Amino acid sequence: MTIIAIDGPAASGKGTLARRLARQFGFAHLDTGKLYRAVGLAVLRFGGDPEDEDAAADAARALDPADLDDPALAGDEAAQAASQVAALPAVREALLQFQRSFAAHPPDGAAGAVLDGRDIGAVICPDAPVKLYVTADVEVRAQRRHKELLNRGAPSIYARVLEALQERDARDAAREAAPMRPADDAHVLDTSAMDPDEAFRAALDLVEPALAAASEEG
Ligand code: C5P
Repeated sequence: MTIIAIDGPAASGKGTLARRLARQFGFAHLDTGKLYRAVGLAVLRFGGDPEDEDAAADAARALDPADLDDPALAGDEAAQAASQVAALPAVREALLQFQRSFAAHPPDGAAGAVLDGRDIGAVICPDAPVKLYVTADVEVRAQRRHKELLNRGAPSIYARVLEALQERDARDAAREAAPMRPADDAHVLDTSAMDPDEAFRAALDLVEPALAAASEEG
């Protein structure tokens, strides 16, 4: 199975890029952040504490793929709770198999899969033939997220968006369990000065040769 692994910090544009790459190659796409968001939200809805490892691991084991369609997953409450449950090794362990199965058997008979998250290249799919680490300056990411919220008609204050991103990045990078970092063999793609089309073209320039080389080898 051909896997494209995409990692990077919050609001780096990795999700958009992953979707476009999946469409380009006819691959399935899994936004693995949604798994952690769904677990975080489930714990909150049961009135639990997202730092309670037993409660969060139970929620991770009970996760139903239908939970991944909940629009509330996109909100900031889910994002912060996701980053709390994601630091717990039992939660990561419980979600590992789902992600590996998706990569090994993508739905609808797709010939490959694009997974995006924080630890895809380093932990989930270490043998992926191409790994991107998509990043951008935190102020640029905060501006993008702020504009996206305003365009959706959601209330947003730039300083709060920036603070929330910084808090989440710091927690994701500092945790002991699968901290956010580029895999040793990842291509780092800094999109600070790129629009989405430029980022897509830059990603294609990295992905196409790697996939061609992998199919020659395979
Ligand atoms: O990518 P997204 O912002 O939806 O991720 C939400 C949170 O889930 C992240 O802040 C991170 O803590 C966690 N996450 C993770 N590993 C992944 C994907 C997401 O730890 N592969």
